[in-house]
Amino acid sequence: MKGVSFLLHALLFLSLGLAPLCSRGVEDQFVYSGFTGTNLILDGAAVVTADGLLKVTNGTVNLYGHEFHPTPLRFRKSSNGRVRSFSASFVFGISSVYHETSVDGMAFFISPRNHFSNVLANQFLGLLNDKNNGNSSNHIFAVEIDTFQNTELKDINDNQVGIDINSVRSVQSRPAGFYDDMGIFSNLSLNSGEAMQVWVDYDEGATQISVTIAPLRVVVKPAKPLVSATYDLSQVLVDPAYVGFSSSTGPISTQYIVLGWSLSMDGPAPVIDTARLPKLPQLVLKNTQSRVLKIVLPIATAALVLAMGTAIVLIIRRRLRYTELREDWEAEFGPHRFSYKDLFLATEGFKNKHLLGTGGFGKVYKGVLPTSKLDVAVKKLSHELRQGMKEFVSEVVSIGRLRHRNLVQLLGYCRRNHELLLVYDYMPNSSLDRYLYCDEEGKRPTLGWDQMRSSKVLHVACSTCTRSGRKLSSIGTSRRAMCSWTVR
Ligand SMILES: *[C@@H]1O[C@H](CO)[C@@H](O)[C@H](O)[C@H]1NC(C)=O
Ligand SMILES: *[C@@H]1O[C@H](CO)[C@@H](O)[C@H](O)[C@H]1NC(C)=O
Ligand SMILES: *[C@@H]1O[C@H](CO)[C@@H](O)[C@H](O)[C@H]1NC(C)=O
Repeated sequence: MKGVSFLLHALLFLSLGLAPLCSRGVEDQFVYSGFTGTNLILDGAAVVTADGLLKVTNGTVNLYGHEFHPTPLRFRKSSNGRVRSFSASFVFGISSVYHETSVDGMAFFISPRNHFSNVLANQFLGLLNDKNNGNSSNHIFAVEIDTFQNTELKDINDNQVGIDINSVRSVQSRPAGFYDDMGIFSNLSLNSGEAMQVWVDYDEGATQISVTIAPLRVVVKPAKPLVSATYDLSQVLVDPAYVGFSSSTGPISTQYIVLGWSLSMDGPAPVIDTARLPKLPQLVLKNTQSRVLKIVLPIATAALVLAMGTAIVLIIRRRLRYTELREDWEAEFGPHRFSYKDLFLATEGFKNKHLLGTGGFGKVYKGVLPTSKLDVAVKKLSHELRQGMKEFVSEVVSIGRLRHRNLVQLLGYCRRNHELLLVYDYMPNSSLDRYLYCDEEGKRPTLGWDQMRSSKVLHVACSTCTRSGRKLSSIGTSRRAMCSWTVR
């Protein structure tokens, strides 16, 4: 028996949490943390779902819906007294088939009646119509959560919170957002699909209306309200009056949903137990695709642009890598001209591991010509001899036609900007000294072999070479280029 009675008490206690609190006499205060088991007055498209969501509109287009707290509230202490201070708070969420687009909006209202007739959906939020909008005989106070910009109503944007008196044209409105402890403002997107809390406070003494909004994740009510207006509600409200929510849809399927609600006369609105609130449905029919596209499309575009850019850079670099300098006069030396690409490939891009030595005029690399598989030594000279190049090349080529045991056989050349490449038969190091000694003709290098070896630079004395070729003496500076050699 004891157990059963305890259970009954427990059930009673639990249901009290769901049902309105009436602790201060005649309905001065209530709190709903979810709407399961409540007896709200619903009309139009409004429904309370099994999991306790109050859907003021159910997602059908061009409709309105209303919900009223079942009993009217006394806003004045005596019939001709002033409207007293009150605070209301609610948690809402907007669920639209499009991401961040919803029409038209919703409102918390105080109204003389618990039904509406001849009201319109769309921009009139299910509260008014085009005839009575602005008429003081409406006796309606509302706080609108407006997600569509109606220019005829002077809406400031499509994401605003406004204070409405007898009209859906707000007396005061602000783009949605909140101030943190430091007074720094953060924007809020009303139809982001996130649950948000709103506080509506009326101060009897100052006749001040303040509206504050914050995402549910911001636990404490921001100290600074978003929008305020000084307006004596004693001139607006009748007594008693009903409180509730209204919302209307336009051509886009949108659900305006209330998750929790509280109100108190002469004091702060009771705290809504956010832990017990039902979950806001994440209705993402058309935005999954668009959200995916929103993420994937820029990445794909960026990747494509990057790939194209890389390809272009590679092509240009490839072109630059193999560009040569060719002039008309060189046509006659045709067979003695090597393509730079071949020399590049032969030396694997002039890699250091193919470096045979460094001389006064440049570096010498060992290479294997790609087609003939012939071993060659490629000498890279940085040439500044612009004029005289033709003569130089013709000498080079004519020497190439000669064969002499004392001369490394010159096969040909290649020219690029600031670069001249001479291609020789490759001489293994061991036989190099044979060419350097040049002593068969009785002439010797100006330096002794040991000296040259220790200095690592061996020069074939120009006088030695003079006898080797026909016109060598006339080559001048170029002669040295062909005779200098370095031993590693
Ligand atoms: C929404 O409510 C209206 C009016 O009660 C009804 O005709 C419509 O079928 C409802 N739509 C959905 C999706 O429940
Ligand atoms: C305001 O509404 C009342 C009652 O419906 C009506 O008699 C009056 O003509 C309206 N005033 C205006 C300016 O439309
Ligand atoms: C905040 O919203 C306002 C008005 O809609 C807009 O002008 C501003 O750029 C927004 N700021 C940020 C940081 O999004």
